[in-house]
Amino acid sequence: MAGIQVKEIAVIGSGTMGHGIAEVAAMNGFKVHLNDLTLDILQRALNNIRWSLGNLHRKGQLRENPDDVMSRISITTSLEDAVRNADFIIEAAFEDFNVKSSIFKRVSEYAPPHAILASNTSSIPISELASVTNRPDKVIGMHFFNPPVLMKLIEVVRGDKTSDETVNTTIELGRRLGKEPVLVNKDVPGFISNRLFMRLIEAACLMVTGNEATIEAIDSAARFKLGLPMGVFELIDFVGVDVVNSILKAMTNRGFEFSGCRLIDEKVKEGKLGLKAGEGFYKYPEAGKYSRVNVPKEAGEGVNPVRLIALAVNEAAWLIRNKVASAVGVDTVTKLGFGFPRGLLEYADSYGVGSIMVELIKLRGKYSSIEVDPLIMQMVAEGNIGVKAGSGFHEYGGGYETIKLTIEPPIAWITLNRPEKLNAINGKMINELMAIINRLEAEPFDKVKVIVIRGAGKAFSAGADLTMFSEEGPTDAYLTSRMLQELTNKLEALNRPVIAMIHGYALGGGFELALACDLRIASEDAVLGLPEVTLGLIPGSGGAKRLIRLIGLGKAKELILTGARLTAREAEELGIVNRVVPINELENETKAIALKLAEEPPITLMIAKGILNIASEGSMEGTLTAESMGFGLLFSTKDSKEGIKAFLEKRQPKYQGK
Ligand code: COA
Repeated sequence: MAGIQVKEIAVIGSGTMGHGIAEVAAMNGFKVHLNDLTLDILQRALNNIRWSLGNLHRKGQLRENPDDVMSRISITTSLEDAVRNADFIIEAAFEDFNVKSSIFKRVSEYAPPHAILASNTSSIPISELASVTNRPDKVIGMHFFNPPVLMKLIEVVRGDKTSDETVNTTIELGRRLGKEPVLVNKDVPGFISNRLFMRLIEAACLMVTGNEATIEAIDSAARFKLGLPMGVFELIDFVGVDVVNSILKAMTNRGFEFSGCRLIDEKVKEGKLGLKAGEGFYKYPEAGKYSRVNVPKEAGEGVNPVRLIALAVNEAAWLIRNKVASAVGVDTVTKLGFGFPRGLLEYADSYGVGSIMVELIKLRGKYSSIEVDPLIMQMVAEGNIGVKAGSGFHEYGGGYETIKLTIEPPIAWITLNRPEKLNAINGKMINELMAIINRLEAEPFDKVKVIVIRGAGKAFSAGADLTMFSEEGPTDAYLTSRMLQELTNKLEALNRPVIAMIHGYALGGGFELALACDLRIASEDAVLGLPEVTLGLIPGSGGAKRLIRLIGLGKAKELILTGARLTAREAEELGIVNRVVPINELENETKAIALKLAEEPPITLMIAKGILNIASEGSMEGTLTAESMGFGLLFSTKDSKEGIKAFLEKRQPKYQGK
């Protein structure tokens, strides 16, 4: 549950990161106070922001007038003025402990008592910054990526004393900034992103200095075998060899064990610092101007990509075992932070965790100091070796053909997966959906609290597969209709909330499936309707009844008898969908709603859902009796006692699903 309502944000430091963060905050409706040492610096920052907003506006990525966004940003050289009314303060000053800690000390004196103090640091321990303030529970890391306007990732870093409330508020703020925050649950050197990056570099360096491969071969394998946007050495050049070197030094000083990379040391000594210097591991035609390095595909033929990612996967296992990150967090960081087309652990699961282990053991044989993480050993011993086994770092749908199931606790994502047929629902899909729903119903609440159903490709679902009817006789059609009814009934009565995330077409049986869910979130492009009459049929999966409940008999008749198609907005006005959002926000918004539901005690949600279903159908007396019984039953749960106690003690409740 989130704590404070953030309305005003102060950004301290207006350099590359600071002005970008201020821009993002203002674009998302926040009032921003931008602070730096001189008015000159601040003016330059404002010019940069104005230029960037203009660009976004021209490309259609900013609907609002840039001047309106600018009007929400004020500048000041007084730290005190900047933070006086701020609910949330993001420090993005020079990456130096003394500079940052003196800012934190002063900010904590001037800022309102409820305000949260976040640092955009990538290397300084949050707990140490927290210790100079008067509110260590309200200090947190908020590590944006460059440039903040374009990069969706934020690492949210918990210090030793950071409270759950601060963490939740920061994550919620990150989402309101249109970003995808990933929690780094302990303040480890390099957080998630740099730890994984350094391990990738470490493996690449070992392979080159151990004469297994050339720099070009490694980069070719990274690009053409793993499909990464850049090779490893190319990426070092892009970031700056000296920058990588200093991040590495800062991390090793804080205890990160690294076997060294003399290739980097040599480049630093020679002053070949990468793209910005015109030369690093590669030569560039113009210093500072990105040009794609030419690495031939054949160069990487002899390089085993599993070996190249093995150390990074080992590091990810360490992060997961030590409860610093989740597997989903690791994959989000690699996808959004490094532009990997798939998450690191999705690679590991598809190559097989066993193969990763074999490479780690071989690397250890050759280069000694590498320890295989116990989590990897355990996964292999238990047979959780990845996609083939149905589970690895992630869970896989267990060999379903028409559905993809991904469990990212506390959300289970069910993806209708026949995109080439607009996810038309055939017999196989009905059976597989039924099996998955039965399985999810039995999952513990700490793993799955909310289920989301969505469609792969460009639609939610264009309805029952019409090819099935052309071959069926009346009895078969009757049975198909019964199966679909059983499925939708099961969904409606399921012991946890189900959300339909609708984009593109939701027609016929697809619409009926969505109607059986508890909430419907649609994108602006969604088209909903029951076109069955136009085919000489009628809706056969309980949709008529469910529609009447939602919008009344008159409107339901109109929709069904005319077979009309509704836009998302029309459906929203009628009360058929709960919310309409732009397509690029659909997944994030659905996730945010699912996570909000997941904060509530699950048994209460289950009983509330059941009683709402009874209320929409049954008599007043029957409903009231069920309501009182539910009310009484909930009093026997630990969660309701906890909820009431937490309220009285003015703290966040901790629900256990009991
Ligand atoms: N059953 C079986 N196949 C379907 C289908 C359905 N309900 N809906 C779409 N498909 C198939 C199409 O036949 C096509 O397959 P093909 O490429 O092998 O020819 C594929 O999905 C893509 O559909 P297409 O019609 O080419 O896409 P579109 O964007 O031009 O049109 C719709 C989309 C939804 C308007 C159109 O497909 C349609 O009207 N579908 C039927 C909707 C319906 O009546 N549903 C109620 C069934 S109870």
